[in-house]
Formats: sequence, C-alpha cells, structure tokens
Amino acid sequence: MLHWSMALLFTWQFTTVVLSALAHDTAVERFFWGTHYSVGFTLWALVLLRAVWGLSQLKHRPPHEGSRLLQRAATLGHLALYLLMVIVPSLAILRAAGNGRGLRVYGIQLVAPGGEANPALTAPANLLHGFLGWTLFVLIAGHIAMALWHGLVRRDATLRRMTRGPERGPRSLRSV
Ligand code: HEM
Repeated sequence: MLHWSMALLFTWQFTTVVLSALAHDTAVERFFWGTHYSVGFTLWALVLLRAVWGLSQLKHRPPHEGSRLLQRAATLGHLALYLLMVIVPSLAILRAAGNGRGLRVYGIQLVAPGGEANPALTAPANLLHGFLGWTLFVLIAGHIAMALWHGLVRRDATLRRMTRGPERGPRSLRSV
C-alpha cells in the first residue's frame, strides 16, 4: 500500500516539476504546480510512516536476488532512495517554515506568514532541494528500470513480490 500509493504520488509530484521546466506559465503547469506543496507534504508524511514501518520489518525483508555485487548495489540504491525521500521534502518544509511566507497544505495554513526570513532554515533548501529532487527523479527511474529488468530479463521473483506480495506458504496454497 505504502509503496504503490507513494509511486502514484511521486508520479504526480514529478509531473509538477517536469511541467514547470517544460511548460512554464501555462494553465496546466499552474494547476499542477499549485499542488506541489500539498503532494510533497503528503509524501513527506508517508515516507516517515514508511521508514518506521520498514525499520520495524527489517527482520522480515526478503533477500535481494542476483550476484553479491548486484545485492550490494540494490541495498545501497534503496538506502539512497529512502534518504532522498526524507531529505528532499524535509528541506523544503524547513525553508517554508523559515522564509516568512508561511506554509499552506490542502488549504490549511500550517505555518503562518510573517516574520523575518531565517537563512539557517532557507539556505539548505535553496542550495539543495531542486538538485536533490532531480537526483531522486533519476534514482526512481533507475529503480523502475531495475524492477523491469528483474521481471522481464532475469524473470526472478522480485517484480511479482512488488505487485502481489510474498510467496504464499503451502498452508495458504491449500486454502486457495
Ligand atoms: C518528495 C517531495 C518533493 C519532491 C520530489 C520535490 C521535487 C522538486 C524539484 C525536482 C524541484 C526543482 C524544479 C525545477 O528545477 O524547476 C522542486 C522545486 C521546488 N519545490 Fe519541491 N519537491 C518535493 C516537495 C516539496 C515540498 C513539500 C515543498 C514545500 C513545502 C516544495 C517546494 C518547492 C519549491 C518552492 C521549489 C522551487 C524552488 C527550488 O527549486 O528549490 N517541494 N521540487
């Protein structure tokens, strides 16, 4: 649930930035960009929930498939994905909290506008939010490519586990 709902929201979120880059100041871009803060905030909340869930399930994670090198690359790739999924929205939320313009999410004013801008809160996002956001975009594209490679070229259990969950044991097979 967490994986696929976030996949959908990331698709939406990256549509907002791709349109902002390719179709700036058009009606469709303004519509999508108007959702960037709210969808980004939702992703931030979901990734925190997912991190807690993932840490609580560390002992139940299936082993990565393939050679030792591939397994290590998969572990590092997933770690980078998680770190960026936490860092990218966190930086932007800190900036919104500290830039004096406030933060509005789904029409709810979470941080009121006003006050002096605080450079300690705004500078990290000014420097890194866009760059790390695009880095996350590239990593997610790699993640999708590798999932397809597992499913279509290696034909192992990875893609099936991602779509249908873990393999059922003999007991649940009997009940089918
Ligand atoms: C996981 C969630 C998010 C992703 C993947 C993401 C991604 C991005 C990317 C790639 C850009 C650069 C666009 C460009 O180069 O034109 C960007 C810009 C921006 N984002 Fe996000 N964002 C996320 C969450 C948020 C949140 C929660 C906020 C506000 C609280 C926010 C506010 C902004 C702003 C103001 C900009 C324009 C200034 C800049 O480039 O730093 N983003 N975002």
